[in-house]
Amino acid sequence: MNNPGAPGALEAKNIHKAYFHSGSDLQILKGINLFLPAGSFTALVGPSGAGKSTLLHILGGLDRPTEGQVLVGGRNIYGMDDAALCALRANRIGFIFQFYYLLPEFTVLENVMLAAHIAGGRSSFETEKEAKELLRSVGMEKRASHFPSQLSGGEQQRAAVARALINRPEFLLCDEPTGNLDSVSGAEVTDLLKRINREKGTTLVLVTHNQELARVAEAVYSLRDGLLHATKAVHAPQTVAHR
Ligand SMILES: Nc1ncnc2c1ncn2[C@@H]1O[C@H](COP(=O)(O)OP(=O)(O)OP(=O)(O)O)[C@@H](O)[C@H]1O
Ligand SMILES: [Mg+2]
Repeated sequence: MNNPGAPGALEAKNIHKAYFHSGSDLQILKGINLFLPAGSFTALVGPSGAGKSTLLHILGGLDRPTEGQVLVGGRNIYGMDDAALCALRANRIGFIFQFYYLLPEFTVLENVMLAAHIAGGRSSFETEKEAKELLRSVGMEKRASHFPSQLSGGEQQRAAVARALINRPEFLLCDEPTGNLDSVSGAEVTDLLKRINREKGTTLVLVTHNQELARVAEAVYSLRDGLLHATKAVHAPQTVAHR
């Protein structure tokens, strides 16, 4: 499981990120090294503006680092062409954001199905069946025909979780998934994410200010001054024996 080349394993090597703003470079990430074994559950914490979202986006192929590599299943995703990177994002990585980002003009069921259509490869019949099963598993089967504006925050987030899972991703990257929820809805989403990690073996990374989420994670890293500091356990890649 700790093999960096395994499906579901992710490794970041020497990640730097600078934003060019008002005539100067703003150094946000200054050499991040991180290993996520397949099926692991990791929390990223740190003060506002530290670069947590920036790092999560880089890990998920949404934003290029200024320097460094992200290896998914042993392959550097930023060495891929745009089409390959797009396909990897659609098929292997699920994202969950604080503000859900469901498409307002589509129903819950359509939002979930659309993600599968974008990735391609399955019939509408299959996709609808799977989307309905997922909505049932997140307790949203009775809200499938609702539009996002007709849902509570917790319901929108559970719909977003179903959408993130429709392509059976190896990774689920979550940016403050409970940040906008009250404590009861937040606890439901927390339980849901834990269950997905345990039952499906999805590698889970979440940025959170939620103490409970950080408590249940296997490893917690704090991002400060552009660097990661392990505050609970550390995932280390297994040394691969070469013959
Ligand atoms: N496109 C950009 N151009 C310039 N600076 C940016 C850009 N995007 C982010 N930043 C800066 O990078 C820093 C890190 O931003 P980021 O969103 O990653 O922080 P964060 O740790 O997620 O904070 P929060 O907890 O508030 O969500 C911030 O200081 C922000 O102003
Ligand atoms: Mg953020």
